[in-house]
Order: sequence, then structure tokens, then C-alpha cells
Amino acid sequence: MYMAGVARKTYATRWPLWCGSAVSADRNGCKNGVMSDMLIRLYALPATPEPLSAATLAAERLVRKPIGCEHDLIVAWVQTEFSAGWASEARVALQNRPISLLVAVQDDQPIGFVCYDATARGVVGPIGVQASARHSGVGAALLRAALVEMRAMGYGYAIAGAVGAPAFFRRVAGAVEIPDSTPGLYAGRVHG
Ligand SMILES: CC(C)(COP(=O)(O)OP(=O)(O)OC[C@H]1O[C@@H](n2cnc3c(N)ncnc32)[C@H](O)[C@@H]1OP(=O)(O)O)[C@@H](O)C(=O)NCCC(=O)NCCS
Repeated sequence: MYMAGVARKTYATRWPLWCGSAVSADRNGCKNGVMSDMLIRLYALPATPEPLSAATLAAERLVRKPIGCEHDLIVAWVQTEFSAGWASEARVALQNRPISLLVAVQDDQPIGFVCYDATARGVVGPIGVQASARHSGVGAALLRAALVEMRAMGYGYAIAGAVGAPAFFRRVAGAVEIPDSTPGLYAGRVHG
């Protein structure tokens, strides 16, 4: 049986990228440090780019699918910048056909990535932008590109799992929290 307090402690110690402390929880918009899953209505995404910020529109030019020779480099970069768990999910996304990972590239270097159908089918994420490139629309461009692809593949909704930056998902994708979704599909997972 799931015990909320125990699970919260486990996530806090094992997954520092997620909302693990009261400080990051406040900054990112998590409630009491608890990360819930969020639901995104793909059929309600803006069809035209008008609602997007100029920064996001500019960043969209950097977003693309990687080609084969880039795969190992991208997985290594995700592990260095974020975590082994996210690198594992990136590897899954790169093995999917069609590939379900998008990368943002600037000056021949990855600066951000997003996956879908990696943690589980229908789940968008992980998503990460390297610290020096944040707040420039890159995250929004990546998330939007992934959601547009999921919609084109036939999904009606996307799930963002154990969201560590709920305000970002709300802002960019109109995501809404799913009640009683902690720890959701991560319950009982293997720890390193
Ligand atoms: C969350 C993350 C991907 C956002 O990337 P980013 O490139 O900085 O985001 P953008 O610049 O595209 O921001 C888009 C909008 O979301 C807002 N936003 C970005 N990060 C936010 C956050 N953590 N909390 C609240 N709002 C946020 C921005 O202010 C911007 O709003 P605007 O359009 O009104 O200006 C990035 O901060 C990151 O990699 N964080 C660490 C990893 C992480 O937590 N990933 C999410 C796990 S669920």
C-alpha cells in the first residue's frame, strides 16, 4: 500500500531534479514539495503560433530530431546535465520508431531535450534545458514540439509525470494537476 509520507521522502532523496525540498517546491510551484502528474489536452493546443512568445518562436528554430550519429552524445549529455534516470529515458526515446526525442541545438551543442513515450506510452517528459540556456523560450519550444508530435500521432491527451516544474507546464501547455497521482506510475520502481 502506498504511504504518502514515505514516498515523498524517497523522491526527495533520490530525485534531486524533481521538487525534493521546500525551497525548490516553492520556486517551481509544487504544493508542499509533492509532485503530481499533470494532464495536457492535446486537442486544445493553440493551432496557430500567435499565443506564443517571441522567445519561443525564435527557439523553435533550434529544435529538431537527432540523427543516428548524435544518439550516444545526447544520452551522455543528458546524464551529465541531469541524471542517469533521465539518460535511461532518453535512450528509450531514441530507440522508439519514430524517434520520440527532440533536441535543441545551438552552436553545435545540445542545450535542451524532451522525450515522449519514454517513461510510459502517452507520457511527455523528461524535459530539460541546461541552466545557462533557461528563460529564453527553449523549454517552451521543446515542449510544444513534443505535444504537436503526440497530437499528430493520434493521442488526445498527454500526461506529464511527477512534474517538477508545474508552473511551466501550466503556462506552456495548460496542464492541470491529476488528483491522487503521487507517486503514480513511479510507485515501487527500482532505485540505483
Ligand atoms: C523547466 C524548464 C525545462 C523550463 O525551460 P526554459 O527554457 O527555462 O523555459 P522557457 O524559457 O521556455 O519558459 C516558458 C515559460 O514558462 C515559464 N517558466 C519557465 N520555467 C518555469 C518554472 N520553473 N516555474 C514557473 N514558470 C516557468 C517562463 O517564465 C516562460 O513564461 P513566459 O512565456 O510568460 O515568459 C527548465 O527550467 C529546466 O530544465 N529545469 C530543470 C529540469 C526540470 O525541472 N524539468 C521539468 C521536470 S517535470
